[in-house]
Parts: sequence; C-alpha cells; structure tokens
Amino acid sequence: MAHCYRWEAGGAAVFGSIQPQPVEFEPDGTLAVAKVEAVIKPVDDHYARTRLICLENTQAGKPLPMAYLPEIRSLALRHGLALHMDGARLFNASVAQGIPVSAIAGQVDSLNVCLSKGLGAPVGSILCGSRDFIREARHWRKMAGGGMRQAGMLAAAGIHALQHHIDRLAEDHYNATLLAEGLADIDGLKVDTAPVRTNMVFVKLTAADPAALESHLKQSGVLVRGGRVMRLVTHLDIDQAGIVRAVEAFRGFFDSTAA
Ligand SMILES: Cc1ncc(COP(=O)(O)O)c(C=O)c1O
Repeated sequence: MAHCYRWEAGGAAVFGSIQPQPVEFEPDGTLAVAKVEAVIKPVDDHYARTRLICLENTQAGKPLPMAYLPEIRSLALRHGLALHMDGARLFNASVAQGIPVSAIAGQVDSLNVCLSKGLGAPVGSILCGSRDFIREARHWRKMAGGGMRQAGMLAAAGIHALQHHIDRLAEDHYNATLLAEGLADIDGLKVDTAPVRTNMVFVKLTAADPAALESHLKQSGVLVRGGRVMRLVTHLDIDQAGIVRAVEAFRGFFDSTAA
C-alpha cells in the first residue's frame, strides 16, 4: 500500500529503472526489519541490485515509532543501502509524537514532505537530502518537465505553511479523535479502534449501501468518496463545528434507514 509503490503510476520503474520489491506494512506502519532483510537480494548476476529502503511516515495516519527508526537505519547501513522516508505527512508524525521533525529527519538519508495536505499550502511538496542528492534531483526534475521559473510564488505559500501551520496540526488530530468517537457511536459503522494518532479516521460500512450514504451526506453538504471503507481526513479547513455536522449527517442517514 506504499504510496510511492502503488499510487505514482509506476513512476519509479519508468524514471528510475527500479524494480520495486514490496514488503507488507506491519499494523504499526513499519516495515519489519527481518522481512526487509529477507528480501535484500544477494550479489548475483541473476538479481536486480538492492539499493534503497523506502519508509512512509505517517503510514495510513500512523506515525512510525521513533524507536524503530535506528533499527531500520542500522539495517540499511549494514547492507550499504540508502534510506528514504516518504514523509508526505511527516509534520503530523512529529506533532503527534512531540518529537522535533529534525530528530526524525536525522534518521534517514532523504525525505519528501507535502506542504499541502494538513499543512494547508495550495500546492507543493519538497524533497530534502544532501547537497549532491538535491543537485541530482534537480537534474531529474528538469528532464521530467518539472522545472518551474515561477515557483517562488508557490514557495512563499509553502513558507507560510511551515511558519504558521505546524503546531495547529494538533487541532486536526483532536478533531479526528472527535470524529472517530462520534462515528463509533453509530450502529452500521465500524470505526478502526486503533487510537487515532493523527488526522485520519478509517470507517467501514457494515451493511448499508455506500452509494446511498454518499448521496445522503451530499444533501447535508458533506462530501465523501463513497465505498465500503472510507478514509476521512481532518485538516485546517475543517473546524470542530464541521466535525459535529459530519457526525450528525452520518447519524441522520442511519436513523432514516432504520426507520
Ligand atoms: C503518502 C504519500 N506520499 C506521497 C504523496 C505524493 O505527494 P505529491 O503529489 O505532493 O508529491 C502522497 C499524496 O497523496 C501521499 O499520500
């Protein structure tokens, strides 16, 4: 389920000539060190060469435990592999755990962070790493058609997000907890009982028709991408009153189908 493996249109294979070796995430969002070690390919002409381990933080809303990072890092060092973190929601992980983002970043060779999503910039992601790595990345960006002379305007929005929207992520996490608690109370919904640590809530519909729920919610001004499992995400445009409204809209649907 890793974003870079599954949801980037096979870009790693196309641009990087990479043959990915997926490993299932553990329930806490980590890649088990032993499972990763087992798929590192031996030096042998028959195999692709293993070069990189890629983590995701948060993974499905779960911040990677801080104690895990040195373990996977030492595996990478033992095998001469680079360690990248898809930290699209890294600041959510940092705020939820009360750990400075630099302490997490210090454990990996490179990482990417989204400035949109919870941080609320209109657009943008950043890549962080050594000077040489970034120089190389700029070259690849250019080849991929991503060079942009006007990026300063977007960077200004990104800087604003980094200066003003980090600490407030705790509100999103609190709102997600309220949402999970509100929805858990409704018959017909099964809410992931793992403690909601960041801004995501996963909800399963036990019986109702997802399309009927989606259209009911739409009439109440709540837009969801329907399906039997829904991922609901809080962010800086969703306040507590919005959470109450959303829970009421869900409740209204199940009250009306029960009647
Ligand atoms: C976990 C994860 N990584 C990476 C990305 C890609 O972000 P961007 O398109 O801003 O580079 C996303 C976007 O949805 C994501 O959810």
